[in-house]
Amino acid sequence: MKTGIKIALSLALLSTLSFGGEQFAMSDADRAMYAEMLENNPADLMVANGEELLAEYCGGDEGIAAFLNQSEDSLPAYLAGFPRYLPEFKQVVGIDQVLQGLMSKNGHKPFKLKSSDMFDMSSYVKSLANGEKSNIDVNANPQMKEAYALGKKTYMTKRGGRGLSCNSCHSDAVIGSVLRTQPLPDLSAKGVAVAATWPAYRMTKSSLRTLQRRFQGCMKNALLKVIPIGSPEMVALEVYLTSEAKGAEIAVPGLKR
Ligand code: HEC
Repeated sequence: MKTGIKIALSLALLSTLSFGGEQFAMSDADRAMYAEMLENNPADLMVANGEELLAEYCGGDEGIAAFLNQSEDSLPAYLAGFPRYLPEFKQVVGIDQVLQGLMSKNGHKPFKLKSSDMFDMSSYVKSLANGEKSNIDVNANPQMKEAYALGKKTYMTKRGGRGLSCNSCHSDAVIGSVLRTQPLPDLSAKGVAVAATWPAYRMTKSSLRTLQRRFQGCMKNALLKVIPIGSPEMVALEVYLTSEAKGAEIAVPGLKR
């Protein structure tokens, strides 16, 4: 009873939030478009661009495998375990940061983490792990343990003008409820293992986006200060949500509203 009231109250609060350009649920027309795009994801083109960029700047699949001390055979399962702690970087890094390191090793100016070229290239690299089970190990070393803890904390901490956390909208208690006609998605392994489906094409943005870019969208919408892509908190959030998706089959690029 008590929790019932709490949930009703927090939903009342949520429904006062303006969700930018995103206040509309999928219409029938959108749904038809979605079905069509499932057959032919527009992001496939962007991923193909990413493959070309990888060849040009990083020596292709072979180049990234060598940089990560993997064979081309072991590479897919290894990629399915990111973010990882890499001693060469002295921190827990995402695939995009690995690619920055490889680009600069090859004498190129690295793409910015928030650039569409980096989204394309890192999406291609993650797609090499398609069909593998997400296998992040948050107990692999103290750095990963720390990242998991920081990610969980970032996820749970209430911030911003409305005092909302990620968990306010994505906890078991509110999943499936509707915020301004938008159903609140379950980010945990019990629901759809969301992290295994990013990077994804966002129909409302007509572009290919990474998971960290998606976090920024939620931060902006919910009036939480936007944290930069690649910062320790962002990588940690990715670690936390990827661990929720552990065991799920990787399938990118995903397709989202
Ligand atoms: C005010 C409520 C609210 C808050 C706070 C919020 N989100 Fe969201 N989030 C949503 C809604 C609604 C959607 C679905 C939007 C859509 O379908 O277009 C969503 C979608 C997502 C998705 C994509 C899910 C998918 O299906 O792939 C991720 C990932 C996500 N949120 C992560 C976060 C993180 C991390 C935070 C904290 C920084 C956060 N969200 C905070 C409401 C919220």
